[in-house]
Amino acid sequence: MNLTRLVYYSQRNPSESMDAQDLIATCERNNMRLNLTGMLHYNGDHFLQVIEGGRVEVSALYHRIARDPRHSNIILLSCTDVRERMFPNWSMGMHQGMDDRARGIYLRYFSTDDINPETVNVESLLDVLQDLSVEMAPRLRVSNG
Ligand SMILES: Cc1cc2nc3c(=O)[nH]c(=O)nc-3n(C[C@H](O)[C@H](O)[C@H](O)COP(=O)(O)O)c2cc1C
Repeated sequence: MNLTRLVYYSQRNPSESMDAQDLIATCERNNMRLNLTGMLHYNGDHFLQVIEGGRVEVSALYHRIARDPRHSNIILLSCTDVRERMFPNWSMGMHQGMDDRARGIYLRYFSTDDINPETVNVESLLDVLQDLSVEMAPRLRVSNG
């Protein structure tokens, strides 16, 4: 079956508590079961997430995430069929914060680490997410049954 890749950007809702460990545990639990993979960067103010997997599963997860009160102002940056996963080893990798290494990766592809979701080049964002994931040792693999 086809693979779909979806990328979105959103703003943290400061009036809702956000426990990153809790969130990543939920992602890992659900995404493994659904053969979904991807990467999430949470810089403290914004989320940038890529989700890849079956079309139906990606779509259902996106709609669930979009209703989550922990963030708002979600902007769908891209949703497209792809031939291959970019994050096959991550049920959902998460990079938190904007430390020097993360900033350095953003500056590899952009002139600033403060991206504008209305104009940003999604391919470059995917490069950023892939480089961030390479900085982290894979922790969970998708189960092939
Ligand atoms: C920024 C962000 C990213 C999320 N990513 C995922 C994800 O990849 N997978 C997932 O199952 N839930 C994700 N969630 C959580 C969902 O919105 C929802 O709370 C969760 O899927 C409910 O799962 P549960 O019914 O097992 O508790 C995310 C939430 C936020 C705010």
